[in-house]
Amino acid sequence: MRNKPSLQNAYDLKSPDDNIKLYSVWAETYDISFIDDMQYELHFAVAEEFVLNGGKGLILDVGAGTGAVAEALLQKAKFCIEATDISKEMLKVADSKNIYKRSFFSDLTKEIPVNNSSNDGVVSSGTFTHGHVGPSSISELVRITKPGGLITISINEKHWISLNFESEVEKLSQYTRNYTLKKISIYGEQSMHDHKDDKAVILTIKV
Ligand SMILES: C[S@@+](CC[C@H](N)C(=O)[O-])C[C@H]1O[C@@H](n2cnc3c(N)ncnc32)[C@H](O)[C@@H]1O
Repeated sequence: MRNKPSLQNAYDLKSPDDNIKLYSVWAETYDISFIDDMQYELHFAVAEEFVLNGGKGLILDVGAGTGAVAEALLQKAKFCIEATDISKEMLKVADSKNIYKRSFFSDLTKEIPVNNSSNDGVVSSGTFTHGHVGPSSISELVRITKPGGLITISINEKHWISLNFESEVEKLSQYTRNYTLKKISIYGEQSMHDHKDDKAVILTIKV
């Protein structure tokens, strides 16, 4: 069944509408059936890298889902974080945790409904991956980030290579100061599923 929540079905999605359908069904159980049971740890690495690079101020979590990155950031320090996602059901779960200043719907494959240079930071984990969001959305993240601000997002390593994310990031270099890449494991060492060895690239862009 295509809409049955599973990592493979998520990777096989073809469009933003497919994402809306799958995550509307997954939202209520996502934290347990995906984050806990599959030992998903990417959000901790994104939060760690953002903080290490001095991220602060008003932060937008894109593809925020149920709020995993915000929870990881708030374990480290006090932050003012907003959430955006294409799934209203995922945002409803995030909102119930009272961790975001506000949340709003957006489709990252289109324009994000936020003014130019309005955020000090942007974070994201798990959203730039197979069947979800591709490299063309990174220019939107740069547009909404203030000069001097910081973007830290994870990108599934195979997705990074197959869609040539690096050339998109290079194209944006006229609007940014520099960027760094770090390769990390997506899942914990004890995880036992088919994707347990999958890796992600943590991309940090200094705008
Ligand atoms: C694997 S979940 C990651 C959620 C959260 N960041 C985490 O680390 O647990 C992917 C999220 O991306 C969202 N998403 C997928 N396509 C999107 C799009 N085009 N625009 C905005 N959000 C999207 C989904 O609704 C889902 O909440």
